Amino acid sequence: MTAVPRHHPPVPPIPRDVVGLRGFLHAARTNALGLWPLAAYEQDIHARRFLGRTTLLLNAPEAIHRVLVDNPGNYRRSPASIRILRPLTGEGLLLSEGEAWRLQRRTIAPSLAPRMLPLLARHVLAVAEETVAALRTRVDRPVDLLASMQAMALEIAGRSMFSVETAGAAPALRAMVREYGLDLARPHLADLLLPVAVPTWRDLRRRGFRRRWMAIMSGLIRDRLASPPPEAPRDLFDLLRAARDPETGAGFAPDALRDHTATMILAGHETTAVTLFWALTLLAAVPAVQAQVAAEVRAIDLPAAIAAGTIPDLPRTRAVVAETLRLYPPAFTLARAAIAADMVGGRVIAPGTLILIAPWVLHRHRKLWDDPGAFDPDRFAPAAPPPPRFAYLPFGAGPRVCVGAQFALMEATLGLASLIGAFEIARTEDRPVLPVAIVTTQPDHAPPFRLRARGGD
Ligand code: HEM
Repeated sequence: MTAVPRHHPPVPPIPRDVVGLRGFLHAARTNALGLWPLAAYEQDIHARRFLGRTTLLLNAPEAIHRVLVDNPGNYRRSPASIRILRPLTGEGLLLSEGEAWRLQRRTIAPSLAPRMLPLLARHVLAVAEETVAALRTRVDRPVDLLASMQAMALEIAGRSMFSVETAGAAPALRAMVREYGLDLARPHLADLLLPVAVPTWRDLRRRGFRRRWMAIMSGLIRDRLASPPPEAPRDLFDLLRAARDPETGAGFAPDALRDHTATMILAGHETTAVTLFWALTLLAAVPAVQAQVAAEVRAIDLPAAIAAGTIPDLPRTRAVVAETLRLYPPAFTLARAAIAADMVGGRVIAPGTLILIAPWVLHRHRKLWDDPGAFDPDRFAPAAPPPPRFAYLPFGAGPRVCVGAQFALMEATLGLASLIGAFEIARTEDRPVLPVAIVTTQPDHAPPFRLRARGGD
């Protein structure tokens, strides 16, 4: 592999010292990626007191292992995460706990298991080809690839899991995600302090949002609900409809089905869309790596491989996706609140302690990575040593690891392959694109790109 100069994509300023309460609240509301001081990127555990409560940011593998893998039952989602995610995902898998979680996970996981990937890949490629066809009409003109990737990922989620076309609902759905991200997704002081049972005034507004949002979701599955379930489940929606509680024999009520739809549509497209966007931004900045990906893709017949039920090996493209997820982890922080006392990384944890595991920090930790700010897909080349244990967690770990991880990796790889196989991608301006933490790791603006059809098309 030819060595290419290392590109260091721009990041929000890192404070030299621990920020005070006002700075903390400001960062939480505007960009949580700028919350952590330099020391957090070097320490095993970064501790701070916040309004009388201890917050621990974990970077040490054994500490992360304890919370996510060894003793996950002792750590529930934090009040702020519940407040912000509940209006979007309702009582779906992301926020459910205990037996309800177990039943949902057992029902949903098989539809996204590795053996389902070839089937899911057909949907991915079909939608990616439609996206490429639409973009062909826009060559040599400025294109908003963020919007294209959001529409593409949404349509993939809708078709592959629910057999629904999203195009009709997409504008309203995307507008609501944007509206939420700019306002109610940003935690204020009361959101961080009060227990979930005590609604904040923003929670009251979030309830209004939830009603409107869930109405869109109900619209998406209306036709599916109106037709009788088939003998053999064909997609995730059929599996959810066929699921029965092992104790009571009850199936999911229509409201629960709607919440599952909302969860899977949101979790299943928002994250993959930004991954694709950041990967394209990185490849636009480093044409030499883009050329390597293009060469790899153009050497194989992608549609024939997918039609034959195989998922082609694209090691360079996969390495770019993996490195993108390191530099721009869509889930920038996993937050948990300790239920009972525990020992984590040699520290006594009191009940109520807020535990944060921030892939954003972990993936840029100075002791875990060489030149952590550099875009270097060689880190994930097949022959490279694997990353240090628990230093790379774009999908989390333990029983609550992302249920869609394999699907997401396949989707991002095939989506990127389709686009880079078809177009040479460049930016039309130099303005830095900075990551901002709003539910996921978003760009601070949607930069225009210029596409050129690759030779031979
Ligand atoms: C690049 C894309 C993705 C990333 C980076 C990502 C990341 C994550 C992470 C970090 C978690 C664990 C959160 C925690 O422990 O607090 C998670 C959970 C989850 N993800 Fe993903 N995800 C992605 C794509 C997807 C897709 C495609 C789907 C659905 C098809 C999905 C559905 C879910 C669900 C339902 C959960 C909750 C699982 C549970 O609690 O049992 N995600 N995801």
